[in-house]
Amino acid sequence: MTGLFITLEGGDGSGKSTQMGALTEWLEARGHAVVQAREPGGTELGLELREIILHRRGYIAPRSEALLYAADRAHNIATVVRPALERGDVVIQDRYLDSSVAYQGAGRVLDPTEVREVSLWATEGLLPHLTVLLDLDPAVGRERLDASRTRYDRLEAEESAFHERVRAAYLALAAAEPARFLVLDATLPVDALQASIRDRVSALLG
Ligand code: TYD
Repeated sequence: MTGLFITLEGGDGSGKSTQMGALTEWLEARGHAVVQAREPGGTELGLELREIILHRRGYIAPRSEALLYAADRAHNIATVVRPALERGDVVIQDRYLDSSVAYQGAGRVLDPTEVREVSLWATEGLLPHLTVLLDLDPAVGRERLDASRTRYDRLEAEESAFHERVRAAYLALAAAEPARFLVLDATLPVDALQASIRDRVSALLG
């Protein structure tokens, strides 16, 4: 596999899509073919799964929820990401398996290690070359989101303690795999964040 797989992680409202847009523009200007991807909902099947996972009202058992994210992920990796990497493209993806470990693990019902193993099974072991973690106090992320939120979102409705656990889980994942992660303070200006990301991506592109 010759391409480059970059994932963006962070709480809701941490600015992942802004950074993804700017990085895409920069890479394309340098002649790279870029594929933008996302989970959940990066494929046609994924959009149907996303509707269920995020917008269906009522209880979903934790293992069922974890498997729905994993089902979305399996299809996205098999049909979008792996083909792009095999062509030699750069894939920039909004959320990947670290989201599952951080969010589904933060529910305190599932073992984070098992959640990770399910994702690795789903994706035949694909790990990103680089994962950018936009670290943000969840209270700040919530303020940024409130203006734009129009639909009922089961996860965003979770209490703030849950989002604190998600943040802590992300930081622990980054500490465990420092070579894969770039951790950035998401309150920094957009341009400063983008400059740090470009430095790291440049080094990977050699
Ligand atoms: P996303 O579409 O990235 O929306 P946002 O703009 O809020 O970041 O993600 C939707 C939600 O899905 C988000 O609250 C995190 C959650 N999620 C998980 O719980 N597990 C996962 O594996 C993924 C990919 C997302």
